Amino acid sequence: MKTKIAVIIAALIATPVFAQSARSTMKAIVVHEYGGPEVLKYEDAPRPEPKENEILVKVIAAGVNPVDSAARSQKYARFMNITLPAIPGYDIAGIVERTGTSVTKFKAGDPVYAYIALDKGGAYAEYAVATEKEAAAKPKSLTYVEAAAVPLVSLTAWQALIDTAKLSPGQTVLIHGGSGGVGSFAIQIAKARGAKAFATASTPNQNLLKQLGADVAIDYTKQKFEDIAKDVDVVLDSVGKDTLVRSYGIVKKGGIIVSIVGRPNQAELDKHGIRGASISVEPNSDELAEITKLIEEKKIKVVVSQTLPLAEAAKAQSQADTRHTRGKIVLKVAEEPK
Ligand SMILES: NC(=O)c1ccc[n+]([C@@H]2O[C@H](COP(=O)([O-])OP(=O)(O)OC[C@H]3O[C@@H](n4cnc5c(N)ncnc54)[C@H](OP(=O)(O)O)[C@@H]3O)[C@@H](O)[C@H]2O)c1
Repeated sequence: MKTKIAVIIAALIATPVFAQSARSTMKAIVVHEYGGPEVLKYEDAPRPEPKENEILVKVIAAGVNPVDSAARSQKYARFMNITLPAIPGYDIAGIVERTGTSVTKFKAGDPVYAYIALDKGGAYAEYAVATEKEAAAKPKSLTYVEAAAVPLVSLTAWQALIDTAKLSPGQTVLIHGGSGGVGSFAIQIAKARGAKAFATASTPNQNLLKQLGADVAIDYTKQKFEDIAKDVDVVLDSVGKDTLVRSYGIVKKGGIIVSIVGRPNQAELDKHGIRGASISVEPNSDELAEITKLIEEKKIKVVVSQTLPLAEAAKAQSQADTRHTRGKIVLKVAEEPK
């Protein structure tokens, strides 16, 4: 009798329905209710299915960004079209598991990285989906943990400095928050472009600014940036408030302030004869491929200050919420493949 039951169970497990259900869950961080980092629950969740233009990625590492907290904030989740339950996170590095029917750029087994659009997310999980327009081939010289630290912040820096400010060789740029995720890439993109880079950070991060290539490192806790950076062509503002207010006067006529945290005041821009822009980063696989080239040419290095297991996402977000991250925080989801 016992043998008969064992045979039946074995047969059932081998049927497609059971095989499918065994495959269709994954470990993930899920938000069921709005609140602080404590609402991030490590649990089983359905594995996503790629649409025809999407790839299913086995996630090895997921980058942590300040915006990830939006999925657990009622105000921002609604604004970003996120409905609960939701899996947070926008940056992944991993291996293509399966491709949708119209995907031509990738095949199963390809190492990729991606910034997934803000209204989708889903990076804090063992599997995530990304479109071809969100993903690019992972830089060979980086580990998966390093690669996961790149997409969202590097694209933000690129879209601010290259697409919006049209930064050109010989120009000067002031990068506020140069030691953070966006700032650390912005300094290096500006230098690769042949610009002169001023950058601000607190005392412990002055060396990092220099290591990233800043021509002038400014300690905002001891110095007024407006006493040091004068007549710059471009300001990249990742801090806002008083920092933005004090930035209008240091931009030369015709120059531009690009803010990623607020909207520059039009009256102040007009008063100083300068331009202003407020941007929201968009996924862009072509630009991510440009960034990959700079990484492979050793013109961009990636700073990961902390790596935590996926289950410790709450700790990672608490740290990111301080807005004093040095480089990036990354969640390790699976072991790096050999
Ligand atoms: N609009 C968009 O599309 C977009 C995209 C990405 C990010 N963002 C936003 O941009 C901000 C920065 O993002 P991130 O990922 O770079 O954040 P992050 O990694 O937390 O970095 C923030 C950096 O700002 C520095 N900082 C804090 N206060 C400062 C001050 N008063 N003056 C100068 N630097 C200061 C910190 O350095 P110290 O520790 O040395 O103080 C830290 O390195 C966040 O608010 C994020 O939500 C917007």
